[in-house]
Amino acid sequence: MLDFLTRSSEKQVPLLGVFAIIGCDGTGKTTLTHDLLASLREKGRAERCYMGLVSGEMGDKIKALPFIGVKLEDNLHKKANRALDMEKKLPGLGTALIMYMLSLWRAAQLLRVIRLSRRGVKVIADRYPQVEVPGFHYDGPGLTVHRTDNWLVRKFARQEQKMYEWMAGQKPALVIRLTIDVDTALQRKPDHDIVELRDKISVMPRLTFNGAQLCDIDSTIPYAQVLEAALQAINQAQPTSA
Ligand SMILES: Nc1ncnc2c1ncn2[C@@H]1O[C@H](COP(=O)(O)OP(=O)(O)OP(=O)(O)O)[C@@H](O)[C@H]1O
Ligand SMILES: [Mg+2]
Repeated sequence: MLDFLTRSSEKQVPLLGVFAIIGCDGTGKTTLTHDLLASLREKGRAERCYMGLVSGEMGDKIKALPFIGVKLEDNLHKKANRALDMEKKLPGLGTALIMYMLSLWRAAQLLRVIRLSRRGVKVIADRYPQVEVPGFHYDGPGLTVHRTDNWLVRKFARQEQKMYEWMAGQKPALVIRLTIDVDTALQRKPDHDIVELRDKISVMPRLTFNGAQLCDIDSTIPYAQVLEAALQAINQAQPTSA
């Protein structure tokens, strides 16, 4: 079904003009991506693309849906959390299907990014998919083969794994990783769970994004300096053609 994705997976060159901003919740990804977009648009064509699932912007969009929004978002978040708990088995086919569809949505976003890059449009991605650490919380695969006896769920998980391997092969030209400490993250996102924040902070340094060019910026410094450092990193990024 996803042959068109795996066929193009041999291509491992970075995507020209694609800049990914990653980091734990509260590092300022959304704030920064909007400002970077405005700055890049002064020089040419540029787009912003949100690549996250369930949390952050997409979570807010789901919450804003009339009548069912808040409940649906809560439900999806719980399901993602449950599936991320490696001690437990996946809760079932319904959840697996939702998670698989969310991953498909993410792959569709990435196809859009690739199209834009080929057209010479600069892209600022808020979050970026990776295959190194499983779990939607880290923008990795949400399903894994080992936690279920259901053959159909296992099939979804295998397909999803392939999808993430393909996505990870689509390296951005530069990954800007925003770092933070748990106290600052909680101060900026007081409604977030401290355990979840701590966990995300510990996972972020392990991600290499398939060997993409990476630049760390401390997000606890004044915001104007973060923006300036990010712009500088983008301007200095190696121009590699796709
Ligand atoms: N360097 C900074 N100094 C002070 N405040 C900041 C800084 N960077 C971001 N903030 C503030 O932190 C809050 C969270 O920022 P933002 O929503 O952009 O984070 P995020 O990384 O997108 O989080 P999420 O992963 O939950 O979407 C905002 O109120 C923003 O103004
Ligand atoms: Mg955000």
